[in-house]
This record gives sequence, structure tokens and C-alpha cells, in this order.
Amino acid sequence: MDQKNENNMILIVEDDAGLRTLMARVLQRQGFQTHLASSGQYAIKWLQENHADLILLDFFLPDMTGRELVDQLRATSQDEEIDYILVTGRGDERLAVDMLKHGAHNYLVKDQLLLDLLPSIVNQEMKQINQRQRLEKTELALKKLELHYQTLFENSPLAITLLTSDNQVVAVNDASIRLFGSKIKIGKKFKLLDYLRYPVEFFVMMDLLEKEGYVKNFDLELKEDQGICQFISVTLKKIEMDENNPSTILAMLQDITERKLAENKVLQHQEELAHVSRLSILGEMASGIAHELNQPLCSISNFSAASIRMLEESTGTKQDIIEVLGHLTRQADRAGNIIRRIRSFVRKQSSKLLELDVNDILRESLNLIESEITYKKIRVIEEIPDESCMAIVDAIQIEQVVINLMKNAIDAMTDTPQDQRIITVKCQRRDKIVVSICDSGSGIKENDTEKLFESFYTTKKEGLGIGLSLCRSIVEAHGGHLRAENNKEQGATFIFTLPIKRS
Ligand SMILES: Nc1ncnc2c1ncn2[C@@H]1O[C@H](COP(=O)(O)OP(=O)(O)O)[C@@H](O)[C@H]1O
Ligand SMILES: [Mg+2]
Repeated sequence: MDQKNENNMILIVEDDAGLRTLMARVLQRQGFQTHLASSGQYAIKWLQENHADLILLDFFLPDMTGRELVDQLRATSQDEEIDYILVTGRGDERLAVDMLKHGAHNYLVKDQLLLDLLPSIVNQEMKQINQRQRLEKTELALKKLELHYQTLFENSPLAITLLTSDNQVVAVNDASIRLFGSKIKIGKKFKLLDYLRYPVEFFVMMDLLEKEGYVKNFDLELKEDQGICQFISVTLKKIEMDENNPSTILAMLQDITERKLAENKVLQHQEELAHVSRLSILGEMASGIAHELNQPLCSISNFSAASIRMLEESTGTKQDIIEVLGHLTRQADRAGNIIRRIRSFVRKQSSKLLELDVNDILRESLNLIESEITYKKIRVIEEIPDESCMAIVDAIQIEQVVINLMKNAIDAMTDTPQDQRIITVKCQRRDKIVVSICDSGSGIKENDTEKLFESFYTTKKEGLGIGLSLCRSIVEAHGGHLRAENNKEQGATFIFTLPIKRS
């Protein structure tokens, strides 16, 4: 018995009971399932509740002709194909030809060869029917899938657009239209560039698309006068459609104005807070700075008095006077430098990222805080390597971190005997840049090295408690980490890292 036929049902419509049974037996031997009908009406009724893959149809039935039966079945079965083989008496070949035109797959003549031919003809037809049914099933599944994707596309909250390489819109969904209104239309050109506030960002994005084949969540700001939203996030992917549209771009755009404005507000608050903190730290260092400024100013006053005296009393040579004036200029430069550093440190400015050597920033910070260090009689050990430690940073922000940490270290050593006040500033270049500031002060109370970073946590009478929380957010915004630990012997060490910029 043929296993593969066992899922196929054949309906035999034949009023000759003997022939009917014989045909059924032959087909069953082939593995087919069979059902027998002796009249047209019965066949129709049975087919209303059952399915036959193939009908063997006698033309002359007691209640109707085979043709009438097929017509009636077609009238009731929506779109479903009626697959049948006609069985006719000898001499009815003309009828057979008619029925072939009417959709019969084949025909068999009732003669002594009928039962011999039956298996091969049925098998052959069934093979084709099965093939077609499989195809229909696949097509149906594909259609369902297409509908599924269409629904997803239409209802996506993301604005999805397909564009050709010369900016022709191929497809848009509702969200695209909600975002861009009538400016985006199938068949029309759409140039995102025209809507951007900073065109250069567009070229950076397209460059990336060219190189990588895709761009993910690229944030862009739009021009204000276009009546669209203010910020969008763009995801682009190049896709190969067919030979006619060799490169199509799938663009997914999302309105991120709300998020961006909130982020900007947070950033602005943070910048303001940082500015206040810089002013406050400078206030704390005021006496040290006054002291430091006092030195060059006193020198300037002394040198100019000496020059006047030399001129009045004609004591010095021209060379002597030039020398004294040279000293005077250097002292004025020194005072000017102190003021320049302070001014750039407290200037209110928005974040400016540049590729810089972290060692230079450390040196600049130490210069700025030098007066405080001298004033408090602290020894600073600098372990700054000769090799450069390049990173993408905002110099003032990193300076602020270093000065905050230095100032905390200085504060922590108030009760440390003068000869033991040491701060070691170390910079190392590993897989990242590691900066540590180690003091010999009081150490962190109860070893609570995380609490310190909470806003407004302070143990100082006049403290604000924002220094460390600010330092941490600055370092993390740079892609690094900041942590604290107590030293084994005495004092604490604050360590921060920054991602290295490899050339
Ligand atoms: N080097 C240090 N050694 C010991 N404790 C420290 C050190 N640095 C910071 N701390 C502790 O962390 C607290 C928070 O520091 P910070 O956020 O800079 O605020 P503030 O300096 O205004 O108190 C300090 O009050 C102090 O208790
Ligand atoms: Mg502090």
C-alpha cells in the first residue's frame, strides 16, 4: 500500500454499484481513502460537509448529468477548485472532450482497461493536485505574512519611509505623515537635509551609512520654521530590493523632542550647578589666592620703587634698570597668569569636548590650586608620566574634578600635623587613563565610600556636599568612573578613569 496517498480522499460518483465498488477497491489498494456516491444529490450533500481531493465522476447519473453536478458544486463552493476525472461510456468521447473544456482533469472510458488504467491516471492527477495545493498553501501563508507586516508597518509609532538613492519616496506609513504632513508623499522627492538646522550633521550621518551600511539612533535637530518637531532620532539601513532599485534606504524616524528638551534641561542644570560649585570652591580658596597674588604685587611695587630710586639718585646703570624692569614684568606676568586661570575656571560656558592630554589638565589644575597648597603647607608629589595621555574631554570640567578632589584632600588634612601633609597625584596610562589623588588626611568616616557621592552629603560645617556628586557625573559623562577608598595606613585615595583616545 502506498503510504503517501493515505491523506488523499477520492469521491467516486457512479450509479453502477458493481463498478463503484471495484474502482474503490483498486484505489484503496493504492493507499487512497475513498467514499462512494450513487447519485448527484448525495454527492453534493456529502461534499457540503466533507472534502474530496479528487472526484471520479460518471457522466450519466440517475438524477443529473456530471456537468450539472460540476456546475452546482461550483455555484456553492467559493473559489475552491473542483478537481474531477470524468468516467464515460464507450463512444462518449465527444462528451469527454466537452468536459475537458469544462475543467475535467482527464477522462476514463468504461471498458475492460478501466481498472488497469485507473491507478496510474489517478496517481498522476493527484500528484499535480497535491503540488498545486501545496503552492496554494504557501501563497496563502505568504499573503498572511505580508498582511502582518503591512499592519506592523502601518501602525508603527516609528515614522518609516522607504527612499530610493535619489530621495524618491517609495513607501511611507501613517507615522511619517503625522511627522512631516504633506511634505512627504509617495513618488515625490524628500530631502531630510532641507529640514536640518545643522546640515553638517547630515553629511556625517550619510558618511556613516556609506561606510557601515546602517546608522542607528542618530539624533538630529530640525529647523524651527518648518513646523515639524525640534529633534528626531534617525535609523537608516541600506537594502537591496531588486535590479531596478539597486539601493533603497529604509529610514526610521522618531520624534525625540520631549526627551531631548528634558535632557537639555538636566544638562543646563548640571552646568549651572557646576558653575556655582566652581565659584564656591574658588571662594573657599580666596585667602590662598589673595596670598599668592600678594607676592607678585609686592614684588612689582618693590621693583618699581627701586627703579624710581635708581633714576632719581642716578645710582644704577641703564643695564641695572633694564634688569629690574625685567623682574617687574615677570612678576606682572605671574599675577596676570593667576588671574587668567581663575577667570577661565569660573567662566560660565557650555560643554566643549576636545582631544587633550590629561597630563596638561592635571598640571594646569595643580597650578590653579598651588596657592592653597602653599598656604596650607602641604607637600604635593606629582607622578605624571612624560608620555601623553590623550582623551576626549572638556578641560574645564576635568579641571573642576581635580580641583574638587584636591580641595577635599586638603580639607581632610586639617588635623594632620604639618610635616605629614602629603598629596600624591598620579596619572597612569593603561587600557584607560587612571588618575588618583591620595592624601594623608582623616580618611573616610566608617569606611562609607559610596555615601560621599550622594548630593548634599557633607561632614563639613560650611560644606555644600555637591562636590563629589558633581565630580562623579562629570567623569561618567566622559565615559569613565570615579570611586574612593581608604588607604591602609592613613588618609583616602580618590581614583577616576577616562577612556583613552588612541591615535
Ligand atoms: N579626601 C577625603 N578624605 C576624607 N573624606 C572625604 C574626602 N573627600 C571627601 N570626603 C568626604 O565626603 C564629603 C562630601 O564631599 P563633597 O561632595 O566634596 O562635599 P563637601 O566638600 O562640600 O563636604 C565630605 O564632607 C567628606 O566627609
Ligand atoms: Mg568638596
